[in-house]
Amino acid sequence: MTARRPGERVSEVGSRLSPMRWSRVLLPLAGVAGVAAHDLLQRRRTLLRNYPLVGHARYAVETIGPELRQYIVAGNDEERPFTRDQRRWIYASAKGENNYFGFGTDNDVEHTDGYPIIKHRTFATVAPPSHPTAGENVTMPCAKVMGAARGRARAFRPRSLVNISAMSFGSLSAPAVRALNEASAMTGALHNTGEGGLSQHHRHGGDLVFQIGTAYFGCRDLDGAFDLARLTDLVASAPVRALEIKLSQGAKPGLGGVLPAAKVSAEIAEIRGVREGEDCISPSRHAEFHDVDSMLDWVELLAQATGLPVGIKSAVGDLQFWQDLAATMADGRRGVDFITVDGGEGGTGAAPLTFSDSVSLPFRVGFPRVYSIFAEARLTDRVVFIGSGKLGLADNAVVALALGCDLLAVAREAMLSIGCIQTLKCHTDRCPVGVATQDPWLAHGLDPTVKSVRAAGYIRTLRRDLLKVAEACGTLHPGLIDVDDVELLHGNQLGRPLRDVVGYRPGWGQPSAAQREELTAIMSGAPQGGSAPQSRDR
Ligand SMILES: Cc1cc2nc3c(=O)[nH]c(=O)nc-3n(C[C@H](O)[C@H](O)[C@H](O)COP(=O)(O)O)c2cc1C
Ligand code: SF4
Repeated sequence: MTARRPGERVSEVGSRLSPMRWSRVLLPLAGVAGVAAHDLLQRRRTLLRNYPLVGHARYAVETIGPELRQYIVAGNDEERPFTRDQRRWIYASAKGENNYFGFGTDNDVEHTDGYPIIKHRTFATVAPPSHPTAGENVTMPCAKVMGAARGRARAFRPRSLVNISAMSFGSLSAPAVRALNEASAMTGALHNTGEGGLSQHHRHGGDLVFQIGTAYFGCRDLDGAFDLARLTDLVASAPVRALEIKLSQGAKPGLGGVLPAAKVSAEIAEIRGVREGEDCISPSRHAEFHDVDSMLDWVELLAQATGLPVGIKSAVGDLQFWQDLAATMADGRRGVDFITVDGGEGGTGAAPLTFSDSVSLPFRVGFPRVYSIFAEARLTDRVVFIGSGKLGLADNAVVALALGCDLLAVAREAMLSIGCIQTLKCHTDRCPVGVATQDPWLAHGLDPTVKSVRAAGYIRTLRRDLLKVAEACGTLHPGLIDVDDVELLHGNQLGRPLRDVVGYRPGWGQPSAAQREELTAIMSGAPQGGSAPQSRDR
């Protein structure tokens, strides 16, 4: 800055400002004037016409509203889909930090209708170890051998109670998919590919469930028709352990989807078997079957061709489909090896609001309805039941297991573990933390090596916490927790046993006696707690 000499007038200084300095002053002013003029002349936004310039503040606040509420306004248990307490638990678990909470619950236990209470036992043959990380390496296998009931050539016992739910490469970034796959390899969890095909990012050592959606991505010809030869080649090229036919998902049941042309990169086009730079459509219905009968024929065809267990994933709405399925499976000639029930509260990359909010039943209502139909038909021992819909939180998971789930599939909780901060912008491609985006700059911030360890930490901690709860209830495995071990509160006046609420008969919600025995034998090596040494006075 040029110094003013004594006696020199200010106007003389101004007249000696260089053109460069003038431009520094005038350009911003011209910009502001331009925006104000635009606001006044445009007709789409009344607020801006009436309050030029100032009105932008409201839009800015709206844009960062989720972040503001999250950090400043909302209480610990207010936010949705995941409260601050729930996210804090996931973040701390993923990082291997202290995930305990002090001072006692801040949940409104006394006044929350339907609040689940898990009932511990005072005396039991098992006791949880007290150390926070004890039991961290116990994978907790499935009570059932998937595919065994139908004699599939590649039947297997899933190693991990907690698994990664379907999320495609396309909705998730490449490093996010890779991180989740590496976490699967570290923890023995199954990694579901989602309906967007099987990419190189899914090939980092984790066992896979290959999902087949209505567009048959990864197993279709260029016209979009299902291609069995492509499917068999694909599953032979990767550690695929099971096939999941996607009928629907809780957040948008009965509806297909579109991946916009801009997102259909050469890599995604190659993986999905579609043309680069064109809209990539998932239709609302399958072309290969149109009812339960033809669906089961197709299930058997896929199982025959690959030797793999084959299951379905669906949200729960009208029950006729489930009644028909159980009735058609009853003679034992055809059948699905597993059923994934997704709750209406489940997540999605993008969906219309009405579908996310109101179509299909929440997990705790939908799952027992489906399970009851199969229990009535005496088919539950032949099918592995997988649950999803916020089941990556231990309390929800315990209820699901008591209701008869054999395995848990977690999606958004796994996203949180690799850095999702719940800005709710997955549908915009502007995910600030590189989880749900195809933007190379945003995605590059996510380091898969660091985040895979986080996701693995989260999976191990959830399993460990579930094991401790199971042991507190006197059982060796969370899958052995029963509907009698859970009550739902109605205010502070009444608690109803979960069995009564869902109308389960004795034995429902549990694996068969033989399956329970096998599971108990497998789990008997898990670390156990105990008591202090006996006193000498006895
Ligand atoms: C970003 C994202 C992508 C998803 N993609 C699929 C998919 O390709 N196929 C599918 O069946 N479900 C998909 N889902 C649903 C999840 O697999 C899961 O069923 C649902 O989110 C419930 O689990 P959660 O509550 O643990 O998130 C997706 C969910 C999210 C959040
Ligand atoms: S942080 Fe990313 S993944 Fe998480 S909600 Fe926001 S946009 Fe979706």
